[in-house]
Amino acid sequence: METQEQVLSMPRIGDKAPDFKAITTQGEINFPKDYEGKWVILFSHPADFTPVCTSEFMTFASMQEEFEALNTQLVGLSVDGLYSHIAWLRTIKEKIEYKGMKNIEVTFPLIEDITMNVSKQYGMIQPGESSTKAVRAVFFIDPKGVIRTIIYYPLSLGRNFDELKRVLIGLQTADAYEVALPADWRPGDDVIVPPAGSCGVAKERMESTDGEQTCYDWFFCTRKLAKEKVDALRVK
Ligand code: BEZ
Repeated sequence: METQEQVLSMPRIGDKAPDFKAITTQGEINFPKDYEGKWVILFSHPADFTPVCTSEFMTFASMQEEFEALNTQLVGLSVDGLYSHIAWLRTIKEKIEYKGMKNIEVTFPLIEDITMNVSKQYGMIQPGESSTKAVRAVFFIDPKGVIRTIIYYPLSLGRNFDELKRVLIGLQTADAYEVALPADWRPGDDVIVPPAGSCGVAKERMESTDGEQTCYDWFFCTRKLAKEKVDALRVK
């Protein structure tokens, strides 16, 4: 029997991505094991053959190469069956032209989750919004299988893809250069250096004349990080 606990299970940032095996439009997958060494964006959508979801799928598919260049695999999910998924993706490719996108082929896996096993494991069923459809969840999972960011959108609002890409690049940049990133950070903007760990370092920072670094106060210092260094993280 379904328990309230199952429905409300919510993985958190820093947790290992829960394991599952699933049938997808690209065959069976063993998640997250099959994607070890890659970043993964696991995202849910409410239902096939719906307009917001269609606009999102077309956008995800048309950006797939950009995500691949960031060593990132897209994996979609909805609480629909495999044949519905196949029919919907065929319709998108054959019939839908939207905002200059046409003949769009979705080649990343779309999980069938008619049993809601995966969506419940990932907290994608949020009964206040819908108890039969997944909300628009986005899980950013790192190459070690750890959840690094989670974003939820309601049924009525399509995701901001510019922000999804910014989050991914931000996570990769923070890891590679051991920095944090300020509000609205974009590649090429200054980055935040780790907090001063001692009174001596705090003093040094405030007295520094290093032109690469700016301290607004002892606990809030930024440094330059060239856009080229962020772009260098791309795998192609
Ligand atoms: C949509 O994708 O258009 C949608 C799906 C479920 C509820 C409302 C809108």
